[in-house]
Amino acid sequence: MPFTAAECEKCRLDFPALGRAVDGHPLAFLDGPAGTQVPEAVIAAIAGYYRTSNANTHGEFPTSRDSDRLMEATRETVAAFLGAPSGREVSFGQNMTTLNFSLSHALAREMAPGDEIVITQLDHEANRGPWLALREQGIVVREVALRPDGRLDAEDFARQVTPRTRLVAMGLASNALGTVNDAALARRLSREVGAWLLLDAVHYAAHFPLDVTALDTDFLLCSAYKFYGPHVGILYARPGLLARLRTDKLAVQDDAAPYRIETGTLNHAALAGVKAAIDYIASWGTGGSERERIVSAMRGIGAWEHALGAYYHESVAAIPGVTVHGPDFSAATGQRAPTVSITLDGVTPNAAACALGARGLQVWDGHFYAARAIEVLGLAGQGGVIRTGIVMYNNLKEIDRLLEGVEELAGKA
Ligand SMILES: Cc1ncc(COP(=O)(O)O)c(C=O)c1O
Repeated sequence: MPFTAAECEKCRLDFPALGRAVDGHPLAFLDGPAGTQVPEAVIAAIAGYYRTSNANTHGEFPTSRDSDRLMEATRETVAAFLGAPSGREVSFGQNMTTLNFSLSHALAREMAPGDEIVITQLDHEANRGPWLALREQGIVVREVALRPDGRLDAEDFARQVTPRTRLVAMGLASNALGTVNDAALARRLSREVGAWLLLDAVHYAAHFPLDVTALDTDFLLCSAYKFYGPHVGILYARPGLLARLRTDKLAVQDDAAPYRIETGTLNHAALAGVKAAIDYIASWGTGGSERERIVSAMRGIGAWEHALGAYYHESVAAIPGVTVHGPDFSAATGQRAPTVSITLDGVTPNAAACALGARGLQVWDGHFYAARAIEVLGLAGQGGVIRTGIVMYNNLKEIDRLLEGVEELAGKA
């Protein structure tokens, strides 16, 4: 369904935080890659859980049964969001990083010293650190090189994957540069050597419809707070795969997938919010099923974000003293996330973020845990980059305010 300026203005009314002003400046939330704002429906679902159903699961009384039903309903809704066959492939955790560490412990038990894991220089540390830690067990970790243009080097990718590779772990989209990576290439290379494929969809999931079945991935992780929900990590594992893995779990914990990687009591209220967030996204789409509405909504929202991102990219690049990092927007929607990073001659990213923040323009500076990418691009010494993230509720007025702010800073330098 088309998502235009009119839909954007309408959706803005659903997000209470967008009404906030500080020192007379309306807050422009351009910090989506670090977490989006939540609509009223999500807030109501979380509060509603505490008001009516707050209980632990698997009890023989009404509020516990409500909680059981809610958890299973949330799994099914997330499955629709991911394109997974069912909620049985969907596990929850504290956040993506924690789930990935848990998964790394389980996969390490299937590996021997000398086995190899391929990661990338572009990835967030959450999809590097857990794998790099396995070097302590004699596992060899290889890195796919990042090119100066912000894309992964496909030839190097082919070189890094060897007959000893057991896992390829790659992000679908970069939270620092907006690059969308070639998942088909990663699948082909990993498949040729019989390795698992793990995709970090944390940045990607906020902007594009996901389809784990079409991606043919073994694992995929994302985080609901990046797509209008609360802080909950999500893991998809290919049907039958998680059940075979030796996860960190208590003996009394359910052995079956998807539960066997879920430790302790989950955040039930937040899970109510995850379901509400996906239902909210679906409400912007059309179609006979939740899945169809999600895909339709994400296509429309993605196109809106892409247009705003392309406008910002082109306009900011034209300001003297500004360098834009990462790919341009010539690629189609779906091939470029609406996240744009810049540096300014003579102004550190931190000073720029402070000055913009004082005008209510909430942008991030630094490396955003994509520290290796920032290092490889030679930007670590000066404090990384200034990152602008665009999501469904950002409008042209906010981008123009940001352009004015950047122009002023560049002019003063
Ligand atoms: C691309 C990417 N991967 C992983 C993560 C980590 O997610 P979480 O905060 O849920 O652990 C982030 C968070 O910023 C991210 O942007």
